[in-house]
Amino acid sequence: MDYIERSKELSRLLTEYQKAYYVQGRPLVSDLEYDRLFDELLLLESQHPDIRKPDSPTQRVGSDLTSDFPEVQHTIPVLSLDKAYSDSEILSWITKTIKNTGENLSFVLEEKLDGFSIVLYYEKGLLTRAVTRGNGFVGNDVTANVKTIYSVPLRLNESVDIAVRGEVFLKKAEFEKINATLTEPYANPRNLAAGTIRRNKSSETAQVPLSIYVYEGFWTEPENLTDHIQILSRLKDLGFPVDPHISYFCRTKDEAELRLGQAGLEGEAGSFDDIPAAIADRTGTRASLPYEIDGLVVKVNELATREDLGYTEHHPRWAIAYKFEAPQAQTQVLDIDVQVGRTGRVTPMARIRETQLSGSTIRNITLHNQDYVNELELAIGDTVSISKRGDVIPAVENVIEKNEQGNTTWQMPEKCPVCGSVLVRRGAHHFCPNYDCPAQAKGRLAFFCGKGQMDIEGLGARTVEILYDKGFVKTISGLYEFDFNNLRFVEGFGGTEGKKIEGIKLALQQSLNTPFRNVLVSIGIPEFGKKAVDLVCDAGFDSMDKLIELADKNDIEALSAIKGIGPKTAEIIIDGLKSDTVRKLIEDLRKAGLHMEDEKEDGPVLEQIFQGQSWCVTGSFENFNPRTKAMDEIKRRGGTEVSGVSRKTTCLLAGSGAGSKLDKAREFGVRIVTEDEFMKMIGSSDGTSAGQSASEDQPGLF
Ligand code: IVH
Repeated sequence: MDYIERSKELSRLLTEYQKAYYVQGRPLVSDLEYDRLFDELLLLESQHPDIRKPDSPTQRVGSDLTSDFPEVQHTIPVLSLDKAYSDSEILSWITKTIKNTGENLSFVLEEKLDGFSIVLYYEKGLLTRAVTRGNGFVGNDVTANVKTIYSVPLRLNESVDIAVRGEVFLKKAEFEKINATLTEPYANPRNLAAGTIRRNKSSETAQVPLSIYVYEGFWTEPENLTDHIQILSRLKDLGFPVDPHISYFCRTKDEAELRLGQAGLEGEAGSFDDIPAAIADRTGTRASLPYEIDGLVVKVNELATREDLGYTEHHPRWAIAYKFEAPQAQTQVLDIDVQVGRTGRVTPMARIRETQLSGSTIRNITLHNQDYVNELELAIGDTVSISKRGDVIPAVENVIEKNEQGNTTWQMPEKCPVCGSVLVRRGAHHFCPNYDCPAQAKGRLAFFCGKGQMDIEGLGARTVEILYDKGFVKTISGLYEFDFNNLRFVEGFGGTEGKKIEGIKLALQQSLNTPFRNVLVSIGIPEFGKKAVDLVCDAGFDSMDKLIELADKNDIEALSAIKGIGPKTAEIIIDGLKSDTVRKLIEDLRKAGLHMEDEKEDGPVLEQIFQGQSWCVTGSFENFNPRTKAMDEIKRRGGTEVSGVSRKTTCLLAGSGAGSKLDKAREFGVRIVTEDEFMKMIGSSDGTSAGQSASEDQPGLF
């Protein structure tokens, strides 16, 4: 047998052995035999690198090459689940859903695995990409790392194109073992799993025995599946590990048993009446599972009904997560005062008797707003139970014992404790209306200099406060005007030949190179954080001038046409960009020399033939795969992106399989551009081969 044949045989055997061991939990050969075959394949592949296939079992051990995680666009919407914190909420959701659809529904109850969300993309059965959830539209490509997870199939049993959602997790026992060896241990298995998936060297990821269960599948060519239990069964048949701990509920237990059996799935069957007991049972047995779950998920089983129920911007309406209650502790509220943030929002804060909860010390807890305090009927001196919602942010859950001093429910002060202005109420929150309130000014300065924005070293919240209180720097642009040498007489700044001062001066100088997107976030326009800024810039509004033009035209629609930006957000952003104080700040920062537009990638400067035009792209293309590549070409030539066709859209670039957008474009009389035409358009603007071949096609014309 030649080496090619032998390598194929070894791949086949090892894949079978890996699957039997990691997915089915039944080893077929001894470790020794496995290692022998593995080493043989490794050797052959190192002698003949061209035989190493992307799905070779040797790919599981990872590589020592460092890699970053390029951002890639998801081709399916990666949504999260709406949450409920009590079983009565779950039950009323079920009743409401049955009532709203008026249909003969059934439900699947799954474990909510407490791990790291991942999307696996397969083309013709081959794992091509593993992408983190990211912001739901764009995630990081972590394929090399995910390939080291033995239970992730590198090749499916059939040659299908499919995207699959699943959760990567680490079993409790493995977590304990590994964590004990670390100098900086992780708080829980989820964090360790997440850290492992983001290692720069896949060989390091391979050291941690991660697991995966998948729970949703999205086929490119829809198959004849009508319900979720069929999807789970099909995913199993394709070779994916699927959590066997599911429950399935129909009108009657008999019918549920029958349908679950027909789908070829393990799990429990019951009638709707059995749901509360099943939730209680799974909550009770949670601790005995080998892995952590942080709740349960209830999903509508019928796919047609799922479609009817549809989605909100963030969640499907056909599923809900029941989150287990977070661990709680008891403590006393010593005082309640308010914090004034950079936007003027006034937030009540409970100062509590110091207490430990899930591994951290807690002294302060936000009470959000007056309504929140009223709901709790919380007064100073009350004994309360506190928890960490989502295991991160501490929250007061309820009052256990009222105070003995006779204090009544806490009330928001009438005036800002910092500047004395009378507070105003907008919606649920109170605000200090004075833009020049020192608390707001300091907050804006600290935000501007902070991590994630301009990230100016040496200018933390404390230093900013000193600068403000001494009257040195009162506004953001003042940072670039102040002579920091004046700080040398201030305590804490003069020592060691003014090293601190030199550090700040240098950091400010370097901040002039900060990318435009950070500058934009740092300005602190409401609703215009990193995510929104990225979406807006990616859609082609990538300079201050373009944004100001939008604001001057009050063109809210141009922003709300961007996928991920709702109409309310668009309005708030435009309002922010119109405000005089923001305009003044922008002009001051422009004068200071900060970047006012996205840096263009290197490459030829292209003629801006699509300047002022809005383009929508739909269907699939021969030359642009994924189709975002076509959109990139449009943006590089000055065009902007819209996600749907409206009367205002300039052009629809329609590839094969274009559907409803094409109909709309025809209805609205929007110009429809084919791929061929588009190639000619972009070809003639940069003189590439595309353009030349376009004219070669029509020799008679010239
Ligand atoms: S279904 C569109 N099922 O919980 C359906 N999610 O916010 C979306 N998760 O991001 C998810 N176990 O990372 C689903 N059995 C399960 C799950 C599950 C864990 C995670 C997932 C998701 C988050 C919900």
